[in-house]
Amino acid sequence: MMKHKKFVTKDLFQLANQWLGILSFLFLIACGDQSINDPVEKKVSGLLSKMTLEEKIGQLIQQNSEGYSDNKIGQIKNSAIGSILNETNPETINALQKIAVEESRLGIPILFGRDVIHGFKTIFPVPLGQGASWNPQIVEEGARIAAIEAASTGIRWTFAPMLDIGRDQRWGRIVEGFGEDPYLTSALGAAMIRGFQGERLNDPTSLAACAKHFAGYGAAEGGRDYNTSIISGEQLRNTYLPPFKAAVDAGAATFMVSFNEINGVPNSGNPWLTQQLLRKEWGYDGMVVSDWNSVGEMINHGYVKDPEEAALVALKAGIDMDMENHVFSHLTNLVKNKKIKESEIDEAVRRVLRLKFKLGLFENPYLATTQPVFYAEEHLAIAQKAAVESVVLLKNENNLLPLANTIKSVAVIGPMADAPHDQLGTWVFDGEKSHTVTPLTTLREEYGSTLKINYAQGLNFSRDKDTKQFAQAIAAAKASDAVLFFAGEEAILSGEAHSRADISLPGAQKELLAEVAKTGKPIVLIVMAGRTTEIYKELPLVNACLFSFHPGTMGGPALVDLIFGKAVPSGKLPVTYPKMVGQSPIYYNHKNTGRPPVGNIENIDDIPLEAGQVSLGNTSHYLDAGKDPLFPFGYGLSYTTFQYSDLKLSAKEIGKDEQLVASCVVTNTGTFEGAETVQLYIRDWVGSITRPVKELKAFDKITLKAGESRTVSFTLTADDLKFWNNDNQQLLEAGDFTLWIGPNSAEGLETNFKLKE
Ligand code: BGC
Repeated sequence: MMKHKKFVTKDLFQLANQWLGILSFLFLIACGDQSINDPVEKKVSGLLSKMTLEEKIGQLIQQNSEGYSDNKIGQIKNSAIGSILNETNPETINALQKIAVEESRLGIPILFGRDVIHGFKTIFPVPLGQGASWNPQIVEEGARIAAIEAASTGIRWTFAPMLDIGRDQRWGRIVEGFGEDPYLTSALGAAMIRGFQGERLNDPTSLAACAKHFAGYGAAEGGRDYNTSIISGEQLRNTYLPPFKAAVDAGAATFMVSFNEINGVPNSGNPWLTQQLLRKEWGYDGMVVSDWNSVGEMINHGYVKDPEEAALVALKAGIDMDMENHVFSHLTNLVKNKKIKESEIDEAVRRVLRLKFKLGLFENPYLATTQPVFYAEEHLAIAQKAAVESVVLLKNENNLLPLANTIKSVAVIGPMADAPHDQLGTWVFDGEKSHTVTPLTTLREEYGSTLKINYAQGLNFSRDKDTKQFAQAIAAAKASDAVLFFAGEEAILSGEAHSRADISLPGAQKELLAEVAKTGKPIVLIVMAGRTTEIYKELPLVNACLFSFHPGTMGGPALVDLIFGKAVPSGKLPVTYPKMVGQSPIYYNHKNTGRPPVGNIENIDDIPLEAGQVSLGNTSHYLDAGKDPLFPFGYGLSYTTFQYSDLKLSAKEIGKDEQLVASCVVTNTGTFEGAETVQLYIRDWVGSITRPVKELKAFDKITLKAGESRTVSFTLTADDLKFWNNDNQQLLEAGDFTLWIGPNSAEGLETNFKLKE
């Protein structure tokens, strides 16, 4: 009886709903809305008109996988979930999908999502490493391969790229983004989106990308993950938002809001951010997902009192899907109690259904083939190329690198020389360490017959403090012509919730290096890490340093090729490299302040005892670290040298609707063929709000043969000179500018131009 009654109510409800659907359809025709002619929109409207409120809310709920469990089967049959994350077994995916398609009332397919961050099985360098490549093409190719591999298991949605600007090396998640600069992050983020999404979303090898974490997550106070972000309006618009705008322009299918609050408002409940800015101002029509339980966490933030209010605030703010449903099930009540209109639910459901139609899930819900595509030869080749391009040569005294063939024996020392798990980096759920090729393996395979390899790791893992293997490592160094010292951080020391207050080499690595250095042998330090670790005191002990971040599956062959000169380093730092953790946050495009330091004053030891308050240099610097970083943003050496000359501008003055062409000649003055990233920066000297001392506005990575010259030119438009103020206004102000073209943010040829009224 009860069952029947329920059925009748549901039927009436559906009938009313269908009528509502038809009426709104007619209304749209009357208003001349173009979207109704769109085949996808027609399908979405048609389906929506048949859905009950419960079925609609089901589409807004994403849950973690439990495999082929009774609970999940029941939820799917009842249309109570729209998406599942973290299921990677193709058979389970197909079996669950079959239930959705054949046994739920309307047959709406499930969308399977996964964190495919820097590769699926074939692992590419961590995103910060990919940032060092300054090569959008290699980033795009890597993401394409990740998509092909992941989609072959039935996953069609990845929670990447992370577009958060990271300026604090303590923040564990700095590793997941492309560094500190809005322009570089925008370019590489858009490339990654293109790679994941391929030519069209309904290709079975395409993944829907997710621009995350929207927004300002990287500004967490003190680099503590999930912490408060205090960001002025102009900083938000000028620094933190541009990569997200670039993601909209690149067609990112989805957005994820971040855990943090900005200026007191959590991003899971901020209508300005999601409705006003993202949807209205930027015209974004894709789906917005919360972060894992971030809607419910608004209770912890002290922004809402209970789960029901959290659901209300999040939906009104424009969040379409609740990741790992903790509160969206309360939406039913909210509609029944008239706190939310069903039409508001419909808007969110539309965005979910639209995505499923665009992905082709209705036509092809199942995995067409299960051909193994993992670790394909061409995937590994691109992973190796990406790893080569992600390595930054920081030091190369007397051209120790590439190693000369007079070197007949090498000592291989350090916890990262043969660390197949840790070399992959953070956010690796599917890549297997059994496929990792470590530097030690490559050395033995490729050079074992021509070179004596004395392996003594000295420490078993990066945090190892036990010195009992030091003697062996020292003996290996003494018995060798050169030392390859592989230092760094284990993968688990960076990534989500893995911030560090001490960013130096952990465990007893510093002590081991100091002992090995006493042998007087030439040392190449190779650092594999998820952040630019503190190596200020270690650098003077070594002759050369390659910084590889966590280089992924093919890190070994990439590094060995670089060490022996089969490849030439071309990576450039995507972040400013601090000397000491106390300098963080640190970034090149800072403001000048009223008291900028002149030179790099480190005066702590010059201050006389009991000196008066007016001691040396009342400027913005640290007594013990000065103002300069260890290495500037954009820095990286090569085995060859590049000379910059002949900087030219198309005009010394331009009008607001004119373009400026800046060019210079770059010559390879060394003996190796090599790639150079040519960087263009500007400074706007006076503004109605203060402007940064430098801003990256363009770059180009070019390859030059030894002796070859090329003219590199860049075109700037008014858009490149605009900035935002604190009243949400974008301004273009006449005045004087300086322009640099050079090899990094601290060097380059310089000229001036004027923007006329
Ligand atoms: C992270 C997201 C991630 C999600 C799903 C969250 O904890 O912040 O970046 O996509 O989990 O795994």
